Amino acid sequence: TVLIIDFGSQVTQLIARRVREAGVYSEIVPFQSAEEGFQRLKPKAVILSGSPASTGDIDAPRAPQAIFEAGIPVLGICYGQMTMCVQMGGRAEPSTHREYGRAFIEIDKNCPLFEGIWPEGTRHQVWMSHGDRVIDMPEGFEIFARSPGAPYAVFGSEERRMYGIMFHPEVVHTPDGGKLLSNFVHRVAGLKGDWTMAAFREKAIADIRAQVGDGKVICGLSGGVDSSVAAVLIHEAIGDQLTCIFVDHGLLRMNEAEEVVSMFRDHYNIPLVHVQAQDTFIDALEGEMDPEVKRKTIGRLFIETFEAEAKKIGGADFLAQGTLYPDVIESVSFTGGPSVTIKSHHNVGGLPERMNMKLVEPLRELFKDEVRILGKELGLPDQFVGRQPFPGPGLAIRCPGGITRDKLRILREADAIYLEEIRKAGLYDAIWQAFAVLLPVQTVGVMGDGRTYEFVCALRAVTSVDGMTADFYPFDMDFLGAAATRIINEVKGINRVVYDVTSKPPGTIEWE
Ligand code: XMP
Repeated sequence: TVLIIDFGSQVTQLIARRVREAGVYSEIVPFQSAEEGFQRLKPKAVILSGSPASTGDIDAPRAPQAIFEAGIPVLGICYGQMTMCVQMGGRAEPSTHREYGRAFIEIDKNCPLFEGIWPEGTRHQVWMSHGDRVIDMPEGFEIFARSPGAPYAVFGSEERRMYGIMFHPEVVHTPDGGKLLSNFVHRVAGLKGDWTMAAFREKAIADIRAQVGDGKVICGLSGGVDSSVAAVLIHEAIGDQLTCIFVDHGLLRMNEAEEVVSMFRDHYNIPLVHVQAQDTFIDALEGEMDPEVKRKTIGRLFIETFEAEAKKIGGADFLAQGTLYPDVIESVSFTGGPSVTIKSHHNVGGLPERMNMKLVEPLRELFKDEVRILGKELGLPDQFVGRQPFPGPGLAIRCPGGITRDKLRILREADAIYLEEIRKAGLYDAIWQAFAVLLPVQTVGVMGDGRTYEFVCALRAVTSVDGMTADFYPFDMDFLGAAATRIINEVKGINRVVYDVTSKPPGTIEWE
């Protein structure tokens, strides 16, 4: 294991990903619990992340001193370099000259970190973001690379296997950064790159068996990738001790419920309860205009429905969830203030306490793209594991204002045509999320010789890395024109189509 100590940089998760891409398992712990993490994981190497803090701060965060004395390789990135410097007897101070963004470094001396990428005497693009500077290096350290703004861009000691780098190798703006991190784990630390999804699968199955014993597990399926992969993995581990519950709230896309049910029942032979709760949800939502009330109603009904079904099955000890690593990592907060609720997200949080069940979360250590690889490993169809995210409240939040059964029908048909066109154009994988929205507005049109007065459909498509920020997708106009024509001709109830060109922020991806 490689231990990554998080000092609160925005991009710490990327370090973990790059290390795993190099085939070495890594875990992130916040600096406040680094001591405990270091004891527990007994890492073969440590990486110190960047930070918004400065070494000059009175309570500047520090790494456990023990890691510098354990004889293991350490890589300090950005702030990590500064704290490494100070904790090993060097000196660093806040700089008046801050450096952000693209910079070029010159390689002074070869070292294992640069093998195969950066030979002595060459110049390379990196991504800098720092406000501190080194004044004195720790004893025995030397300079390997410098930039005009950072005379100590890379320093270290080959003998002690410790390096500090001032730029961020984990971001894509440092083009060779992934290779540099892989050099650290393979060449500096001498770790084998044998962490694969097949190995993970074996270990996860053994862990599930050990945790569950002969207990009963229930799993709420949403039709999404995470809960599906979790369910298939758990079924492989414990067979029919697992029962899946699929609450069909009537807010799914075209054919979605049928696909999920047939995949689980027919293909995997996993016991599945298909709860037909469409009327419960839609009756409760009908006429409700407020987006937050809609979201909360769906959340509450979901929990009530799920709980009632679980009671019918009876005697389950465990609740399975598709929780992912980004949900688990404690975020390091320096501001400490509560963040504002933009939307109440629909999830099953709170269910385990309410139902007094223990949790099985076999995907807790994985990133989303790793879950997709595991899904393929488990034989889920490519089309399924590559699916774009779909929110828990489903079509309800794509139908602003009050929903009715007829509006849902119209939206479902338009959405299916739009996605079909996107797939046909080969754009599906280039887009983070694409969907239709049915506006609560009717406009006048002319079709044949007659006047029409029907709804407006908005199309949305965005690119994003994590859903936190997003850009609208720049379709060409021919594509949009063709999709719009099909929707207007084929869907009864829509006579006008518009395209949403809002990014996030200031917009959100969903309309409610
Ligand atoms: P927004 O609309 O906040 O969405 O920009 C960001 C991402 O989250 C998805 N989303 C949800 N996912 N339950 C979910 O599981 C929800 O209640 C929910 N609301 C939004 C949204 O589709 C996008 O990918």
